[in-house]
Amino acid sequence: MLNAYGDFSEYYDLLGWNVFARNAAVRLNAFFKLRGPKPRSLLDLACGTGELERSLRNTGIKFVGVDASPGMVKIARRKAPKSRFIVADAAGVRLHQKFDMVLLLFDSANHMTSYSHLRRVFRNARRHLNDNGCFIFDFLTERGLEEWEQINIRRKKDYTLFCYGHYYPEKMLADIFIEAFIRQPAPGGPHENYRRVFQKIVEKTYPLNGIVSSLAECGFAKITASPFDLDEKVAQATRLWFVCGK
Ligand SMILES: C[S@@+](CC[C@H](N)C(=O)[O-])C[C@H]1O[C@@H](n2cnc3c(N)ncnc32)[C@H](O)[C@@H]1O
Repeated sequence: MLNAYGDFSEYYDLLGWNVFARNAAVRLNAFFKLRGPKPRSLLDLACGTGELERSLRNTGIKFVGVDASPGMVKIARRKAPKSRFIVADAAGVRLHQKFDMVLLLFDSANHMTSYSHLRRVFRNARRHLNDNGCFIFDFLTERGLEEWEQINIRRKKDYTLFCYGHYYPEKMLADIFIEAFIRQPAPGGPHENYRRVFQKIVEKTYPLNGIVSSLAECGFAKITASPFDLDEKVAQATRLWFVCGK
């Protein structure tokens, strides 16, 4: 499967990829206070390692996570043995249950590399939403994906991480490469050992009007898009934050 997360799952949290979910939890808690009441149940599509569940655990919200990567779900189950995590495509999973909130966070919508896949995910999100529920997702815009046209290097005691990519404007698609060298325990040995982990991700972006019309086509009547970074304007934003209702 395209965008299958393999070995990388094991190091996702260590390499700091879980920070987005932690920040999203702060944003969601503020949203619950403003918009109240707090949801009683939440479906996290493309839940990754379940960091959002961990960050919202003390809210008492009943949580279900779905992710296409068995590696990610294995870590999520380890972190939250009391919550339910399912290995499935966000477009195809059928839980026969409705939720007050459905989420699709941290570039996960950009992982759907065709309109047809994206719309199947939107339809499925709506299918699992209560009538007054909220579907929330973020989306990297073309500006956001263009930012992958550079090399980022992070060095920590336990790893060195390289992230680089290419953005293809004609396809509105980016190839993203994540390469890490992770220090392994080498008790008593004369040299440090490192494990190399490599992950390629393909992310696609769509024009704002294409996303909005897809949401409308999938039955969402209330659609708001705001810049994720509040200093930006929607038209120039690198990441958008969508809140949608039936
Ligand atoms: C960047 S991670 C985000 C994970 C998590 N939401 C977070 O905030 O850390 C993207 C996730 O999308 C999952 N994914 C990609 N395509 C998917 C699909 N079609 N259905 C379900 N999960 C998918 C990947 O396995 C990965 O866990």
